[in-house]
Amino acid sequence: MGATEHAAIADAATAHGVVVRGAGRVFDGRTVLADVDLTIAPGEFVALLGASGSGKSTLLRGIGGLDRGFTGRIDAPAAKAIVFQEHRLMPWLSVWRNVALGLRGGNIRERALTALDEVGLGAKSDAWPSTLSGGEAQRTALARGLVREPDLLLLDEPFGALDALTRLNAQRLVARLWETHRPATLLVTHDVEEAVLLADRALILRDGRIAEEIVVDLPRPRRVTDPEFVALRSRLLAGLGVGDGGPIRATTEDQEYTHV
Ligand SMILES: Nc1ncnc2c1ncn2[C@@H]1O[C@H](COP(=O)(O)OP(=O)(O)O)[C@@H](O)[C@H]1O
Ligand SMILES: [Mg+2]
Repeated sequence: MGATEHAAIADAATAHGVVVRGAGRVFDGRTVLADVDLTIAPGEFVALLGASGSGKSTLLRGIGGLDRGFTGRIDAPAAKAIVFQEHRLMPWLSVWRNVALGLRGGNIRERALTALDEVGLGAKSDAWPSTLSGGEAQRTALARGLVREPDLLLLDEPFGALDALTRLNAQRLVARLWETHRPATLLVTHDVEEAVLLADRALILRDGRIAEEIVVDLPRPRRVTDPEFVALRSRLLAGLGVGDGGPIRATTEDQEYTHV
């Protein structure tokens, strides 16, 4: 590692980025994460891919401070928000109260309503979570994360349970929110297309380490039909060991091809 990289890591750690060095996690004598090195610069969008069970959620929880059983070093900003595949809204609280839950200081309702407006749910602020669609519930969860003005946004397959069209809209929303607020972002996904659409870099977790890194140096908004997009998608699929992704997506049905 050169002096420049050392300096970059120090910058990331002190300026609301993430630095993970030699991180490991063992469950019941089984090593899930062996030696993870990962840096996320402030404001950078990183996607994390890997086979099911490779340890993506474990790593995200470690970075999120939800798992104290790690070895190695994890530095992450204090102001974090996490969105999971399930929305985890409290059914007995209205939508805005869910967003406001745990907030301190004044104007809590106004802050919650502003965040809900940003995700297009201002009109649902007094609704109960049980009356929301899957996409609306995930947007509420995003608003609940945003309202905390996080330096680090952790997303664990947040659109995994949504139908294809709803997922496309949610991806566009995340792209817009990230561009507006610019938190460092770690998105766990099993969808290579989602990674290439959204991320600055895509990492592949394999055998307990970051096995590959692919820089996504494409202007935004990205187009799935752009030949460079297609090439990057193929590289990621190859990295995941699933060969080529089949035809360029023309319809939502073709999304199946990009899932592993
Ligand atoms: N709390 C836990 N106790 C025991 N094993 C766990 C625990 N959490 C995760 N694991 C195991 O660690 C491995 C990685 O899990 P996970 O991080 O959820 O994978 P991924 O998110 O990549 O699908 C799996 O084999 C899982 O069963
Ligand atoms: Mg997972």
